[in-house]
Amino acid sequence: MRSHLPVFPTRYNVLAFCLVLTVIFFVEMLLVSAYFFWPFLVFAVLSGIGYRDMRQTKHAVLRNYPLSGHFRFMFESIRPELRQYFFESNQDGRPFSRERRSMVYDRAKNIEDVLPFGTEQDVYDGSYSWVNHSICPKPHNPEDLRVTIGGPDCKQPYSASIYNISAMSFGSLSGNAILALNKGAKAGNFYHDTGEGSVSRYHRQGGGDLVWELGSGYFGCRADDGTFDEAKFAKQAVEPQIKMIEIKMSQGAKPGHGGVLPGPKVTEEIAEARGVPVGVDCISPASHSAFSTPVELLEFIVRLRDLSGGKPVGFKLCIGHRWEFMAIVKAMLKTGIKPDFIVVDGAEGGTGAAPVEFANRLGTPLRQGLTFVHNCLVGTGLRKDIKIGASGKLISAFDIAGAMALGADWVNSARGFMFAVGCIQSQSCHTNRCPTGVATQDPLRQKALVVPDKAQRVENFHRNTVKSLMEFTAAAGLDHPREFKPEHFYLREGLREIMPASAALTWLKKGALLDPVHDIPGYSTYWDMAVPDSFVAAKTLEAAKSLQHHHNHH
Ligand SMILES: Cc1cc2nc3c(=O)[nH]c(=O)nc-3n(C[C@H](O)[C@H](O)[C@H](O)COP(=O)(O)O)c2cc1C
Ligand code: SF4
Repeated sequence: MRSHLPVFPTRYNVLAFCLVLTVIFFVEMLLVSAYFFWPFLVFAVLSGIGYRDMRQTKHAVLRNYPLSGHFRFMFESIRPELRQYFFESNQDGRPFSRERRSMVYDRAKNIEDVLPFGTEQDVYDGSYSWVNHSICPKPHNPEDLRVTIGGPDCKQPYSASIYNISAMSFGSLSGNAILALNKGAKAGNFYHDTGEGSVSRYHRQGGGDLVWELGSGYFGCRADDGTFDEAKFAKQAVEPQIKMIEIKMSQGAKPGHGGVLPGPKVTEEIAEARGVPVGVDCISPASHSAFSTPVELLEFIVRLRDLSGGKPVGFKLCIGHRWEFMAIVKAMLKTGIKPDFIVVDGAEGGTGAAPVEFANRLGTPLRQGLTFVHNCLVGTGLRKDIKIGASGKLISAFDIAGAMALGADWVNSARGFMFAVGCIQSQSCHTNRCPTGVATQDPLRQKALVVPDKAQRVENFHRNTVKSLMEFTAAAGLDHPREFKPEHFYLREGLREIMPASAALTWLKKGALLDPVHDIPGYSTYWDMAVPDSFVAAKTLEAAKSLQHHHNHH
């Protein structure tokens, strides 16, 4: 016969155990010794916590598992560390695998970064890509790899390194991290993008070349109402440390998303750099107020170029709707105004904090965005005057060579340089509790980052990466990485087929989009939708397609 006695749920065992011990120690305290007060106190507190767990209404786990449920939260909070230290293989680890992180750490520490025994990559995996080598490798080119940025209207062209520090603001990163990055950039002769947060005292103290990024908050040149202030811009833009001006249209990790730095985080130093009041919410709207059409964007570029004394001015974006970028290209053709450079950021790019869907599912990945921008400029004959930069998980010589094969003139890295200053990819940048002092404003935590040591690592990482790129280039039989072309870069198409990027992707002939009639998949229809005076498409996709159809039959 089955018993109908109520069963004591085992999930309450821990709490019951604490209660029993509380009673035992209480009795011992009264009967044996006053020293039993201390164990009594411990178990009484634990029992109290267990009782509170059962009564609270926020955490179902704790209501059902009083006391023991706390272990779940504790282990969850150190899950990244447990994974990294105990369970992660060399190829595991996201966004950057352990193998790739170790490569950066070794290069930053200037220790030999060789891989023993052979590759761990599955070279038959569908996502595998590689560069082909030559039977006749070249001797290593000893020259420093540089690229001159500045079109015909630029009075102060800038000779940039082929590898630079991508935009990350002071505010997002600590003062010590900014200083170490900037000192490293100075020592290694490459540039440091300020990010939206403008030029801080740490950038100035480091003295390295700067690219001043203007986001929609116009920090550093912001009027009280949050709009662009011409006089403030002119004053800072002419500073010799600032080499180029970059308008931020979007970033791959959170395209189309503005940002708020909450008042309590707006410290005196941040307020000073951004030109905003201390302690007040600091807002970057989702879109710019200085322009609202493609032609106005180009007119803004001319204004910035003039006010900065003729420095190179360009913009950074992650490719979204194709007709919108094409509208900018049409505006270039209409007005004759060209940016000096365009930086293409991939959807795989990093951020301090972004909504999950924005980080995971919005924006075009780098390879497709980059080839699209390159093609649009080649197809309109504008490519020779406009340089293209690229960013999005580019930390090895292969990554850089691949981006250059697909159309980039130079490359930037954000997280690569974060690793160089000590980031361990704990992914808690948004909590102000960065364990390595890289992404925090907590003065005590950032002391962990010793500036002279990390500045040296930044310089080492850059130098060793560029050296590796030279060796990689020479092995491909080339003199300079700019000679990497789509036919050098291979992708796997299933298990049996491989394809060079020259065949796998569309490549436009020079001026192809200027022909009165063309039928280029992924380009012609969008081209018909774009107009220079608006980012909004002038016609629907269906209307553009039927126009194409009409053209093709006449
Ligand atoms: C902590 C952090 C802060 C960033 N802040 C900015 C910013 O202020 N402006 C910007 O354009 N991009 C910003 N980015 C994006 C990077 O500049 C870069 O475009 C992106 O991370 C891709 O490079 P990566 O894959 O080498 O990190 C930030 C990225 C990180 C990781
Ligand atoms: S160590 Fe962690 S919190 Fe600090 S910057 Fe790196 S990922 Fe962000």
